[in-house]
Amino acid sequence: MILPIYLYGQPVLRKQAEEIENTPELKQFIADMYETLTQAEGCGLAAPQVGKPWRLFVVDGSELEEDYPECLGFKKTFINPELLEESEENCTYSEGCLSLPGISENVIRPRTIKLRYLDEDFKEHEDTFTDFQARIILHEYDHLEGHVFTDRISPIRKTLMRNKLLAIAKGKVGARYKYKRQ
Ligand code: NI
Repeated sequence: MILPIYLYGQPVLRKQAEEIENTPELKQFIADMYETLTQAEGCGLAAPQVGKPWRLFVVDGSELEEDYPECLGFKKTFINPELLEESEENCTYSEGCLSLPGISENVIRPRTIKLRYLDEDFKEHEDTFTDFQARIILHEYDHLEGHVFTDRISPIRKTLMRNKLLAIAKGKVGARYKYKRQ
């Protein structure tokens, strides 16, 4: 089932998400998140973006394989993730977000991260991710903390973005996929 994607301005996007436990319904919810992500042609989707304040996100790099070979086959579910390490070395990529249609900006973030997380079967993993894989994870992890990528851009760029963000928050902007706005 395709879920509506909550757009900027919806309070759930500003909440600190909570850890989750395995329930019989969770598998279907995760399947719905993948279906929603694929249909919207995105590379990552966090549970708060579909209205659930849960520490869960899914990634699928297939849309990006041509530009970022490290995303080949990068399709994964992250439950209750915990950021263990972030490299001092940073890198810059242009980011967009399904909750902020029509906006993209360069964001500086750590190049490499170490993450502890549970997979769909609630099996624990500890892995290192780099470059665009790390980028997608950090962007989605931010959603669990109540942040969006425009929180991380320079004050000047943020001022320039202000009207675009307000337009989304006021419900004046739609998206090409199923969405929920003010
Ligand atoms: Ni996003």
